Parts: sequence; C-alpha cells; structure tokens
Amino acid sequence: MNKERVLTGITTTGTPHLGNYVGAIRPAIAASQDDNVESFFFLADYHALIKCQDPKMVQQSTKEIAATWLALGLDTDKATFYRQSDVPEITELSWMLTCLTSKGLMNRAHAYKAAAQDNEQNGEDPDKGVMMGLFSYPVLMAADILMFNGTQIPVGKDQIQHVEMARDIAQKFNHIYKKQLFSMPQAVVSDDIAILSGLDGRKMSKSYNNTIPLFSTEKKLQKSINKIVTNVLEPGEPKATEDSTLFEIWKAFANPEQIDMMRQQYADGIGWGQAKKELFALINEEMKAPRERYEELMADGDFIEQELQKGAQKARAYARPLLDQVRQAVGITAIKS
Ligand code: TRP
Repeated sequence: MNKERVLTGITTTGTPHLGNYVGAIRPAIAASQDDNVESFFFLADYHALIKCQDPKMVQQSTKEIAATWLALGLDTDKATFYRQSDVPEITELSWMLTCLTSKGLMNRAHAYKAAAQDNEQNGEDPDKGVMMGLFSYPVLMAADILMFNGTQIPVGKDQIQHVEMARDIAQKFNHIYKKQLFSMPQAVVSDDIAILSGLDGRKMSKSYNNTIPLFSTEKKLQKSINKIVTNVLEPGEPKATEDSTLFEIWKAFANPEQIDMMRQQYADGIGWGQAKKELFALINEEMKAPRERYEELMADGDFIEQELQKGAQKARAYARPLLDQVRQAVGITAIKS
C-alpha cells in the first residue's frame, strides 16, 4: 500500500504566533510522527515574494519559521523539511503548468478577485497594482503539491480553492499528455483543530493585529495574555464560558480535566486577573522547553541551514525523477540522432 503523502507549505512572511501553532504547526508535527504517513513541510519563500518585497523580512521570517518547527520537535529524518527555493524543480514545473492553466481559472482565484473588486469599488482599473505573482500564485502552489504527488494537503479554509485548482491542473496535464504523472491532491481542513481566538476575540491573525507571539519572553507572553478582552464582571460573579476568548484559548492548551476545572472556576466566579494568571502558567508550561531550544537555534543559523540542506536533498530525490518524466512527456528532451 502506498503511504499517505501529507504536504503543506508555510509562506515566509511574519513570525509564527500561537494561532499558527495550535491550528497548523502542532497538528502537523504530531501527524508526522505516524509511521503510515510521509510528510513534506516546506518554507514557501517564493510565495513570500508575492506580498513582501523587503529582503530582510523574508530572510528573517524564513529563519524564524524554520527555527520554530525545529524547536517544536519536528523530526527531520522522518519528515522532509525544506525550503521551496532550494528545489528548482518546483519552479520549472510551475512554468510547464502555467502553459496549460487557463487564464479564466486564475480569474476566479479569490485573492485576485478580492484585489480586482477592491479596485473597482474605488473606481480604478480592476488590475491596478495586481502583479503576475499574485495572479498566478495558484499555479506555483499547484507545482508545490504536484511535484511531490502530495495527496493530503492540510490548509486553512481560504486555501481550499487553490488545492482544487491544483487538481484541475493535474487532471489537465494527465489528459493532454496522456500520462498519469500526477495524483489528485485533497485539501484537509480538520474540524477538530481549533481556530484560535485572538486578543480581541476575532480569529487570531496577523492581519487583525491581535496575535500572541509564540516564542517571546515570559514577560511578553504574560503581557499579551493580560490584553485578552474580557467583560466587566467582578471576581465572585459567575461567568459564562460561551463566547469567552480566554476560555477558548484555555481549551486549546488544557487537557479534559483542566477544561472541566476551569469551567467550574468560571461558575464559581473566578476573577479575570486570576484566570489570566492560570492561562499564562498553562501556556508557559508547554512553551518553556521549546522556547529555550528556539533561542539556541536562532543563535545557530548554520545548524538551521544544514537541516534545510538535508531536507532539500531528500526533496530533490523525489522531485528530480518526476520532473524528468514531465520533461519527457512535454517533449523537452535531449536530441537523438
Ligand atoms: N499559499 C499557502 C498559504 O498562504 C501556503 C502554501 C504555498 C501552500 N504552497 C503550498 C500550502 C502548497 C499547501 C500546499 O497558506
């Protein structure tokens, strides 16, 4: 039986926050420990260029995200952990896929559509400020996936459409060239994986500026947690766990007994200050050792680089033979007499 091949990419802009950890990194690392799956996790640095033209930021974010996954215990002998730009086969494939992807399909991609609609609302040309990178990014994403024949693609809801486009593109290639080179990827959006609430109660997201950083100092973590919105109820007054951001975050880190215990404390009228103290202790307990490891890694860039080079080698061992078949299929071959 072929093993399930799980593949996902992380765009290297920004610093990972608790929402990324709970919603993506923690479940991905846990799943990669299963012997029945092969995991491919990569730093999507070419995707970063679509939204970020600050070289220092791209570089720093790549380092931070790599250090984060390593600090959280990703086993790089088991999973294949690499940087997109270290696997030139991906970008080569991306061009070949571009040549058979209809423009109409890309017109429907939601990131482009949102940009065009914004422009129209402002009375501008719909394509104002829209770069080809943004427009065709689902093709690069399809290449990321198809280059490794990824079958299970864990993504956020906003990315489902792109995985479906990758299927369309794979099908089209297989059909035109009459070769089943690519398998059909499937988006995996897990319902039981929490979407963590942010400081203001909306989904924790960089774009809402409501995040709790993953590996800042204990002091900063405590400060962030103190900013979680609560209501005006005083200590001693019973509190509802529904719609409580603090309780939502508690649930993402607590075991079932701890969840029950906090529920009881809410009913008994725990003060918000006390609840925040307990939440800090809980998160800090889980983060303490990884935070130390993260600091060590951030001070040892050579080690991170070595890990990524090891990953690139493993990734290219899959990508190269498949790309050779793709080249053959499309007619890009050595000239024979
Ligand atoms: N576009 C994805 C995001 O913004 C990141 C990504 C790039 C990705 N390539 C991928 C995810 C391939 C899954 C598979 O979240």
